[in-house]
Amino acid sequence: MRARIVAGNWKSNGRQAFVEAYATDLKAALAQKPAGGVTVMVAPPDVYLSALKAALEGAPVELGAQNCSATAEGAYTGEVTAGMLADQGVRYVIIGHSERRSYYGETDEVVRAKLAQAFAAGCVPVLCVGETLEEREAGQAEAVCKRQLSVLEGLVPEGAEVVIAYEPVWAIGTGKTATSEQAQAMHAQLRAALGSLGLPADRIPILYGGSVKADNAASLFAGEDVDGALVGGASLEVESFACIIAALSERT
Ligand code: 13P
Repeated sequence: MRARIVAGNWKSNGRQAFVEAYATDLKAALAQKPAGGVTVMVAPPDVYLSALKAALEGAPVELGAQNCSATAEGAYTGEVTAGMLADQGVRYVIIGHSERRSYYGETDEVVRAKLAQAFAAGCVPVLCVGETLEEREAGQAEAVCKRQLSVLEGLVPEGAEVVIAYEPVWAIGTGKTATSEQAQAMHAQLRAALGSLGLPADRIPILYGGSVKADNAASLFAGEDVDGALVGGASLEVESFACIIAALSERT
C-alpha cells in the first residue's frame, strides 16, 4: 500500500503564539493516531520549526519545510540548507511550489538542484507540479506537469522516498478546486509518467493541492490515484485540517 499523507503548508503565516495554540489544538485533535495509516505533516515557516517540534512533542505529526537551498552549506547568505533542516528534525521538504516558481523565479533546473540537496540530506522531497489556467485552457496541462516531473530523472537514490503534489495553479488559494475527475485523471497520468522515468510509480504517493477544504476532501480522495492532500489555507485552522485528515482516514 502507498503512504497516505495529509500535509499542511502554512506558507508565510503564523507567529509564536499561533504555533503554541495550533500545537495544543492539533495534539488534542490527534489524541488518537489517525486511522488508515495516514501520515500528517505540517510545514511552518523555518523560524518556527523547532518551536512547533517542541510543542508537538509526542503527537503523530511529521515536520516539514516549505523550501530548501539549492546548495550545500557555504557562503550563501540567507539560505537554509536541507542538511540544516534534517538536523532540526525535518522529514519532508516541499520543493518547486508554484509560488516559488512564479514569485522567486525557480526554474526546473533550480528545482532539480534542490531535490538533489534534499535527497543528499535524507529528507523526503514533496515535488510540486501544476499548470496555470492559461496552460490548461491551451490543452497543455499534462505536458507542463510531465515536464516539471521529469526533473526527477536519474535523481532518486535507490530506496529513497519521494512524494509528488499535483497543485493546479488556478486552484491555489482561489476556492476553485479541480473536480475529483480532473484530479484523478492528472494523478493517473503523473503515475504513468513516473513509471516512464523508471521510478516505482505504484509506491510513490501523489497528493492533490489547491483549495482543499473540509467539505471537498472526501470527494477528492475518492480518486484511486489521489493519495492525500497538500493543504494551504485550511491547514491553518486545526478544525478544518482535522476534518481533512479524517476524510483520508475514512477512505476505504
Ligand atoms: P490552498 O489550500 O490555500 O489553496 O493552497 C494550496 C497550496 O498551495 C498548498 O501548498
